[in-house]
Amino acid sequence: MIADIVVDLQYGDCGKGKITHHLLRQGAYTHCVRYNGGCNAGHTIYHEGKRFITHHIPAGVFFGVRSVIGGGCVVNLEQFFSEIEMLETGGIKCDGLVKIARNAHIITDRHMEEEAAEEEIGTTRRGNGPAYRDKYARRGLRAEMIPGLTDYVVDLYEEFHHYPAARILCEGAQGFGLDIDWGDYPYVTSSHCTTAGALLNGIPHTAVRKVWGVAKAYETYVGSKKFHGEGEIFDKLQKVGQEYGATTGRPRQCNWTNLSLLNRAIQINGVTDLVINKVDVLRELDAWSFRLDNKDGISIHLHSEDTWKEYLELYLPQLELHFSDNPERI
Ligand code: IMP
Ligand code: MG
Repeated sequence: MIADIVVDLQYGDCGKGKITHHLLRQGAYTHCVRYNGGCNAGHTIYHEGKRFITHHIPAGVFFGVRSVIGGGCVVNLEQFFSEIEMLETGGIKCDGLVKIARNAHIITDRHMEEEAAEEEIGTTRRGNGPAYRDKYARRGLRAEMIPGLTDYVVDLYEEFHHYPAARILCEGAQGFGLDIDWGDYPYVTSSHCTTAGALLNGIPHTAVRKVWGVAKAYETYVGSKKFHGEGEIFDKLQKVGQEYGATTGRPRQCNWTNLSLLNRAIQINGVTDLVINKVDVLRELDAWSFRLDNKDGISIHLHSEDTWKEYLELYLPQLELHFSDNPERI
């Protein structure tokens, strides 16, 4: 068995969908597994000239690869079925390909109602937190308990370990800055967004080959804490980068990339390959800056794209960096 993992190093919305799609296109995987989160996630994928936004279904379906919603996930069944319909209508065959781990948990109407007016954290109001709370309180509803799901439910041990030579692409949701343990608690989501979260879905550490860390050339965050930088440039960043949530449509707060956070995320996730997306947005503004997470909150301003990239390469000498300036490919 081999597994490659795609993990977001900031606050979600860094372009995991694009990287996952790119890796699947090489055609080397037998499985694609979503390893955390629920329909709070919104993955934007360009496929054969069409734009799709998925919330639950792993990107494997775009290439006929078996696509499993892992045991670390929570599922809204209405959303699940309507997403399959949306994909099928768009010409993406899902029949027989989409599976749900038997131990994934169900988001119920009660979970949704409970979050309908949530403001303190600024959640996506998709019932995520309450569903995970009930999971850990041992009173949740698992996928295997739903009669209408028998055709979809699988056991991840059988799925991955009985398969002669499983080659798995693990697709994460949200990001390191939103991780329940490593994020800025309580302004976090309720699941494990790290490489460790992928392993919790029945994948042994010995199987891991590559960890693709995904970051953006600047940071965005959606939620209640103050994050947006001071100054007009950050409003421009929001506009040029079209930083509005794929799930809720809310404007994303913007700031320069925090190099200390990025470095921490790289180390904790064991990143082997780093992709920096949306360099084209900084290019349009001709603004090349970073933040450093020390008590003075220092910002570093570089004067060109080349010096900005060189700075990053010097700061992260152990990694191969890939810069992307196109929404459809690396
Ligand atoms: P929840 O996951 O809906 O409970 O929301 C908790 C925090 O995570 C809020 O700040 C959300 O805006 C944020 N969040 C959840 N999912 C995503 C995502 O897929 N992208 C970006 N932010 C997210
Ligand atoms: Mg998103």
